[in-house]
Amino acid sequence: MKVKHFIEPNDLALNEYEEIFRLADNILIQPEAYLSRCQGKILASLFFEPSTRTRISFETAMLRLGGQVISVTDPKVSSVAKGESLADTLRILEGYADICAMRHPENFTPHQVAPYLSQMNLINAGDGSNAHPTQTLADILTIREAKGGLEGLKIGFCGDLKYGRTVHSLFKFMEQMEGNSFYLISPEALALAPSFYDYVDPGRVQVVGELAECIGDLDVLYMTRIQKERFEDPREAEALRGSYLLDTEKMKLAKKDLAVLHPLPRVDEISQEVDDDPRALYFRQAKLGMVGRMALITYLLEAKDGGKR
Ligand code: NCD
Repeated sequence: MKVKHFIEPNDLALNEYEEIFRLADNILIQPEAYLSRCQGKILASLFFEPSTRTRISFETAMLRLGGQVISVTDPKVSSVAKGESLADTLRILEGYADICAMRHPENFTPHQVAPYLSQMNLINAGDGSNAHPTQTLADILTIREAKGGLEGLKIGFCGDLKYGRTVHSLFKFMEQMEGNSFYLISPEALALAPSFYDYVDPGRVQVVGELAECIGDLDVLYMTRIQKERFEDPREAEALRGSYLLDTEKMKLAKKDLAVLHPLPRVDEISQEVDDDPRALYFRQAKLGMVGRMALITYLLEAKDGGKR
């Protein structure tokens, strides 16, 4: 059996995203129509790295679809701690669950274990600093709702562009859309690796030192926290703390219809006063993250069952 996984944003074609957007729109309008859409199905939630939002959002998504959830949140209590290989753990889980959301601290772990699976869909809920494609789904649902589309936008990425996996995945997705251009705003030590954009027309990417320099040009501002857990030396992360702050003063320089996103958790990069600004969309983004995961789970499970119910 061929089973579809979602490990990198480009694992789904644009027409599949369209289908997921359609499902997400319907879920928002008529959530009660989905209450038993995944009845009898089980999501395995396998988090080898701390997570609150993403794990709860996946688990709530499955419960709101009428499915059930089994979860491993502490790798110390799983057989991986006894030396079982992760591939074995997943193959065993495959006998129990229909779909699995996995977060892992090491880059490319889901890429390595997915080939062992033939029945259970694997969703990457974040692998190290590499990718976080379901956060991208939350992000693009938010941008689409705020801007009416995903093309022709000036998008600023601000903060930790080196280790921020949400940045990596969203950049990859938005880069393939027509007419988008990018402002990369970070301290040099946290710059986006040029391998992400060296194939992109240089006119579409600008590296910027200060947020105030470009905020007035932006349609979308994607703020991120410094990923201190990915630094070898925590003192380096501490030294970079507070490099960027979005506050009401900077918001005065921005367009009236700027969309401010943040994958959360926020630490100190957006001041709380900004929360009351209608352009601050990060709490809506968290809600749409759950809706997007409902749509994704429905789409993947139904594609496997050979079509809609
Ligand atoms: C992000 C992550 O885990 O990469 N958070 C999330 O999924 N909600 C961003 C972050 O931790 O900074």
